[in-house]
Amino acid sequence: APERLTVSVVGTGYLGTAHAAGMAQLGHDVVAMDVDAEKIALLSACELPFFEPGLGALLRKGVESGRLRFTTSYDDLAGAGAHFVCVGTPQAPGSCAADLRWVEAAFGELAARLTGPALIVGKSTVPAGTARRMAETVRRITGGDRVEVAWNPEFLREGHAVEDTLRPDRLVFGVETPRAEKVLREVYRPVIEEGCPVVVADYATAELVKVSANAFLAMKISFINAIAQVCEATGAAVLPLAEALGYDDRIGPRFLGPGLGFGGGCLPKDIRALYSCAGDLGLDEVAAFLRQVDVINLGRRDRVLALGRDLLGGSYAGARVCALGAAFKPNTDDVRDSPALAVASAAQAEGARVVVHDPVAVDGARRLRPDLVYADSILTAARGADLVLLLTDWTEFENLDPAVLSPVVRRRNMVDGRNLLIPARWRAAGWAYRA
Ligand code: UDX
Repeated sequence: APERLTVSVVGTGYLGTAHAAGMAQLGHDVVAMDVDAEKIALLSACELPFFEPGLGALLRKGVESGRLRFTTSYDDLAGAGAHFVCVGTPQAPGSCAADLRWVEAAFGELAARLTGPALIVGKSTVPAGTARRMAETVRRITGGDRVEVAWNPEFLREGHAVEDTLRPDRLVFGVETPRAEKVLREVYRPVIEEGCPVVVADYATAELVKVSANAFLAMKISFINAIAQVCEATGAAVLPLAEALGYDDRIGPRFLGPGLGFGGGCLPKDIRALYSCAGDLGLDEVAAFLRQVDVINLGRRDRVLALGRDLLGGSYAGARVCALGAAFKPNTDDVRDSPALAVASAAQAEGARVVVHDPVAVDGARRLRPDLVYADSILTAARGADLVLLLTDWTEFENLDPAVLSPVVRRRNMVDGRNLLIPARWRAAGWAYRA
């Protein structure tokens, strides 16, 4: 059996909560900390402050086994040997760069309290150079190298947090000393023994692996969306084209889904942080290359809006619009940088009355866009609609039956922003269908 370690986790958002519950599942004693007392109260009662399949059960298992507990005080973390910093690095207000204030606070607060040898491991997504600066901060506060710093980026996807945490594709350790590598290998021993590859590198490389991975995924989506525009202009069909591309195993079939494009708390901010960083480094061509990924992606929202406007005869003014989807992707209630909400809001700004339905994201959406109207079922949202915009690829929407929707809408206009439906089926039912 692996050695039972005591680890701490700072920040209990998606990443921190999944990591804390995952560490307890691996057999460690875990104390997870957040400055948000409300979140900590929920988690201590085994309740997730967000929607994530399977994570609630893992949380409960950890808490009930006595291996996982929560606190609002940094003081309770001092006894752990490894500390994982999982705080957010959102896009800084008024800039494309990442806001590092929470990372800096976490390293500072930890360093001030750690009296014995320890390792502070950054998991947050940060620009290259951050780990080095954090190591200097820690050295200054502790007055030596008793407390070390490592960077161990996290690749988890929302909706798959549990499997990505317990069975990651790879582990990346950004370390400066053999001691730090040894601690990380010990922490992850059960995962490594199951065959998970480990890449050991320096700080800057570990930091860049994460943003490069997300930038690549974003680029793949924008690539197929760029080709989709060429397809539309030439009468070619992008779906069979993408399928054919995907059979080449150098390309691979995933993240080639054309449509409304990417959103969420990671891809958009990471591509922006990377081109902003490339620009700061004087790498103008690199910055321009990466910026186009964002430009193409944001252009998809306009394209979906334009398809709807066409179906309405040239204007949204006075139209009743049913928006299906608010989350940035299915199986999450996350509405950060959601293309779905952006399109719904833009249609409303053009004079439509928009009613939004999402299987789980309505509460979060209402907080972010209180000006939109929300409905708790597809049929309520669609009642009297002149246009249906399908904006998030939930299975619930994929299974929609035109025979069920037709009687409730006023006009049979469908824009399928995710290429989710079977066009022939909708057209046969009398719908004007665009995708
Ligand atoms: C992403 C990375 O996948 C993950 O490895 C990293 O740790 C965090 O960022 P996540 O933000 O959960 O994860 O979303 P992801 O599943 O990657 O989807 C991103 C967006 O791309 C969604 O808006 C999705 O709708 C869109 N997408 C995805 C497409 O538009 N087309 C596709 O083919 C695939």
